[in-house]
Amino acid sequence: MSDIAKLEINGESFEFPVIRGTENEIAIDIKTLRAVTGGAITLDPGFKNTGSCTSKITFLDGEKGILRYRGYAIEELTKKANFLEVAYLIIFGELPTKAQFKKFENDIKANAMVNEEMKNIIDGFPKSAHPMGMLSSLTSALTAFQPNVVNVHSEEEMYNAIVKILGKFPVLASWAHRRNKGLPLNYANNSLDYVSNIMQMMFRIPTEEYKINPIAVKALDELLILHEDHEQNCSTSTVRIVGSSEAGLFASVSAGVSALWGPLHGGANQAVLEMLEAIRQDGGDVERYIAKAKDKNDPFRLMGFGHRVYKNFDPRARIIKKACDDLFDDLNLNDPVLDIAKHLEEVALKDEYFAKRKLYPNVDFYSGIIYRALGIPVEMFTVMFAIGRLPGWIAQWKEMRENREPIGRPRQLYIGESLRTFIPFEKR
Ligand code: ACO
Repeated sequence: MSDIAKLEINGESFEFPVIRGTENEIAIDIKTLRAVTGGAITLDPGFKNTGSCTSKITFLDGEKGILRYRGYAIEELTKKANFLEVAYLIIFGELPTKAQFKKFENDIKANAMVNEEMKNIIDGFPKSAHPMGMLSSLTSALTAFQPNVVNVHSEEEMYNAIVKILGKFPVLASWAHRRNKGLPLNYANNSLDYVSNIMQMMFRIPTEEYKINPIAVKALDELLILHEDHEQNCSTSTVRIVGSSEAGLFASVSAGVSALWGPLHGGANQAVLEMLEAIRQDGGDVERYIAKAKDKNDPFRLMGFGHRVYKNFDPRARIIKKACDDLFDDLNLNDPVLDIAKHLEEVALKDEYFAKRKLYPNVDFYSGIIYRALGIPVEMFTVMFAIGRLPGWIAQWKEMRENREPIGRPRQLYIGESLRTFIPFEKR
């Protein structure tokens, strides 16, 4: 194949280099398009065909159902590594040695305190505030207590900013939950690992000893690994574009939290559980809901089925399904909602409608059931996703700044009014 793409506009021909990625994907490099054509731009709402950057962090192939971080398959990472180890890999590019991991973990622990004045901000939120709104605001507010802008060309300053946000973010996330429930705000216990701390900060109450359940921690750890990065999705692109203006890491991550909040992005796991619960309360007639999902006159869709990128299977869904089964077996749990989910999946996978459209369970189909089994309330599901995605946001922000990428500034095609004469107020 030629490494040149040819474009003809009004009889004039232009050539652009074709760049190949590691896995042989191709991209047409149109950096010079406006200059050579005298102002033409490409139009691609939603950026479905537009690469905004080159990246060394995550590879995914939606057709083949592949997801890898820094070249390692997620199937292997979820089995053999823990969340923080994978975070190190995603952020710094290599699996940590024992010494590197110990230092990383200790440095995060050393930064797990949050300025007590942040509690005044929490007190200002109405009780009805959604935890994602609180988390976004609190992450942004961190900037006020760490006013120095990170010098991205200093390895040490970058590292310090990274361990700081990794230390404080789960504390703030747990505070969003505790405030909602009227519970005292907890801090981390530095004798525990990162994911155990998330559990104890969310659930420990002052009157009782909190016992860590290693099976629950393992399930959450696996789930969080699967969420660590997913290349240029909506929230990650947001983090990169906000950071491209040289806004700091906390401000960029805060914007990422807001982007993740939407039901079309991180909010889908909540929608799945609400759907399963509604089916249960309606008598559990799975076949009727499958028929509703297939009926073009019915707006109902099977939440947790289908994916914009994965068109054969979502590799994360396979891992999560197994994790969900293991968790329920190990803890000897029963949940009628899980039975409905399995029945729904079984019926849908045999149905021609879903097979023809390549609709398979996605990552959200089982993740909500795991969260529910762990006692995490529905409104916190997207917050858990944000905790999982934090290393990805950090890595992408770091890569963007280190690559000295230019400020993100898409173009537009103006289709509004041409120059008009102003009509004075009295004459309108
Ligand atoms: N239930 C029933 N039918 C569906 C579903 C579904 N969940 N998803 C797609 N279809 C049908 C569509 O009606 C369409 O049918 P048609 O060709 O007869 O018109 C066909 O499948 C293609 O659907 P599109 O919406 O064009 O597929 P797209 O790739 O654009 O959408 C999406 C993907 C948005 C995820 C969609 O499958 C969906 O809405 N799923 C349910 C919501 C969900 O689970 N979202 C979470 C995604 S994972 C994540 O964000 C982390």
